[in-house]
Amino acid sequence: KRLLMLNGPNLNLLGKRENEVYGEFTLQDIENEITKLVEDYGYRLDSKQSNHEGELVDILQAADGEYDGVIFNPAAYTHTSVALHDVIKAISLPVIEVHISNIHSREEFRHKSLLASVCYGQIIGFGKQGYRLAALALLPEQK
Ligand code: DQA
Repeated sequence: KRLLMLNGPNLNLLGKRENEVYGEFTLQDIENEITKLVEDYGYRLDSKQSNHEGELVDILQAADGEYDGVIFNPAAYTHTSVALHDVIKAISLPVIEVHISNIHSREEFRHKSLLASVCYGQIIGFGKQGYRLAALALLPEQK
């Protein structure tokens, strides 16, 4: 009973990056919150972050069979990465795509996700609550 929370490029800068878009909280704050939430359900959370597309591919390949689901904010690679599309399709884990900001109300180049069609679901625009909603979607209905 394990969930993986995976964050892509620049999300290590949360708290000091475009605060008006992404809020004041840090990645550590999110990790702490989601760890507590999943532990309440008897699950464990592993949290990983990488700025490198290939490393994200490696992590997802290795996650297959090891986890019950993935909470994934692919950040900028959402809009560009065929490699991430392919790996999400190749593995049998439910992956939930999370975006802190509402990508549809921002620049045109953020409107398209190359990953949404291979993800289990998508949660967009609810700030750090999105990670919590994604976790709830992967956890059983009853504690
Ligand atoms: C983001 C949205 C992406 O467009 C952007 O490149 C990010 C963060 C979000 O969480 O809102 O880095 O994934």
